[in-house]
Amino acid sequence: MRNSMPHIVVENLTMRYGEFLIQKDLSFTVNKGDIFVVMGGSGCGKSTLLKHLVGLVVPYSGRVSYNGKSFWDATTNERDELLRRVGILYQKGALWTSMTLAENVAMPLSQYTTYSKSQIDEISRYKLALVGLSGFEDYYPSEISGGMQKRAGLARAMALDPEVLFFDEPSAGLDPISSKLLDDLILELNRGLGATIVVVTHELPSIFAIGSNSVFLDADSKTMIACGDPKELLRTSKDPRILRFLTRGEREA
Ligand SMILES: Nc1ncnc2c1ncn2[C@@H]1O[C@H](COP(=O)(O)OP(=O)(O)OP(=O)(O)O)[C@@H](O)[C@H]1O
Ligand SMILES: [Mg+2]
Repeated sequence: MRNSMPHIVVENLTMRYGEFLIQKDLSFTVNKGDIFVVMGGSGCGKSTLLKHLVGLVVPYSGRVSYNGKSFWDATTNERDELLRRVGILYQKGALWTSMTLAENVAMPLSQYTTYSKSQIDEISRYKLALVGLSGFEDYYPSEISGGMQKRAGLARAMALDPEVLFFDEPSAGLDPISSKLLDDLILELNRGLGATIVVVTHELPSIFAIGSNSVFLDADSKTMIACGDPKELLRTSKDPRILRFLTRGEREA
């Protein structure tokens, strides 16, 4: 059963790059165990929102809190501790190309833990096995397919057993079957490990298959125009912008 304990709370968040407003007045809650989808047209600020959620960019105004603690009001130590429990799969450049898959997964472990070399090897193998990449430990990213690269990126994001995983368009560029496999993997992580997952995606099948909650960012008004379970939004929303997005333009109201 899903509980509804708040995990990440966003309050009145306004994001800018210099004078350029990206999104304003965002307020929403990601609950523990949610698969939370960030939706919206290209360039509306989805990746920027993810960067704000993981502390890579300081909000222009407003607040992001984890487990009731405001991120930017926390001490540097508290922030580091928090970030250790977060895994990220970026939109671009998921893997270090000069390292094998095992070395990629080992990297955060050697950086953030005091495990021995053999413990790190064992954990890296295990994480790669979880994403179906047993036997590919010594391959370089250029030697495997795009779908396998995404899965290896996922293994690296999971290296430190994060409580929250952020994925920026994990299935972009994948064929429908690889994309479905990735969705299954995300569901398994969510159900099996209880991880909270925040995912940016435009893939409608993914949104409906895995999303339990969402926020919709609008590029024109530069703010959120909906939040909640995407299936419910499809059923109940009267907003043509939401319906257009969720039906690929087939329904407007
Ligand atoms: N570091 C930056 N400095 C200045 N402007 C930026 C920076 N990063 C992104 N932008 C601008 O901010 C806006 C939002 O970008 P962002 O990458 O967050 O959008 P997105 O919704 O993730 O788009 P996409 O769907 O194409 O991935 C864009 O206009 C982009 O050009
Ligand atoms: Mg993006």
